[in-house]
Amino acid sequence: MNKRIEVIKRCALEAGEILKYYYSNDLNVRFKGKIDMVTDADTSSQERIIDIIKSEFPDDEIIAEESSKNTLNLKSTWIIDPLDGTTNFVHRLPWFAISIAYLYNGDIKLGLIYIPILNELFFAIKGEGAFLNEKRISVSEEDCLEKCLVGTGFPYSIHENYEEIVTRFKKVLINVRGIRRPGAAAQDLAYVACGRFDAFYEDGLKPWDVAAGILLVNEAGGKVTDYKGEEYKIGQSNQILASNLLLHEKIKELISL
Ligand code: IPD
Ligand code: CA
Ligand code: CA
Repeated sequence: MNKRIEVIKRCALEAGEILKYYYSNDLNVRFKGKIDMVTDADTSSQERIIDIIKSEFPDDEIIAEESSKNTLNLKSTWIIDPLDGTTNFVHRLPWFAISIAYLYNGDIKLGLIYIPILNELFFAIKGEGAFLNEKRISVSEEDCLEKCLVGTGFPYSIHENYEEIVTRFKKVLINVRGIRRPGAAAQDLAYVACGRFDAFYEDGLKPWDVAAGILLVNEAGGKVTDYKGEEYKIGQSNQILASNLLLHEKIKELISL
């Protein structure tokens, strides 16, 4: 595993340099859907990460957002979001991340979320804890809804079906200290892991948005399920609730309509 740890960090740092370059230079923006964009930064970052992984582990499977392959294999697999927070990036907001997870037999062994502009590298190893820039992190100890800060986000398909999302948002909003929608789901999960957010929930996230963050939250002492409190299954579950554990039931009640 030591070589994989070294490689995952190298991927993040090299891809981070690419994102920093594009962040202050011209950007080609194309549309994948009505509001869902992809830029040169997404594709260049992904290419660099895949090149590094392929050169070190040619037999491993790779699932990455900007390539078509999208099935979860049960062997040695990497799941990559080369730029989480593309809308922020296009609008030159600094909240964007690189998210990389390594799974063996479907079990998340390594999770890394790197926020290059803020120089924050979140990293977790299964069974060994979660870290921010090499310092151990843990979830918050808040158990009171009125004192908690909750992160959320909205799927690109929100225009097709927004009523449930808006109803849930209202219920949470009037019961907690505040809601934030930073615009990068991987970062949101990392923020639960380090206690900045007490909880996070969102509909419609993909494996590359959540794989690394799930391990970070679990290794930091938190809990991740779907909105019903059932185990969150990567590639199958469509709704994610991550919390500091203490608030899990209370937030679950609020978001179960
Ligand atoms: C998006 C971000 C956003 C979330 C969207 C995701 P992308 O990922 O994580 O916060 O609300 O649902 O798709 O497209 O920027 O990689
Ligand atoms: Ca994403
Ligand atoms: Ca992305």
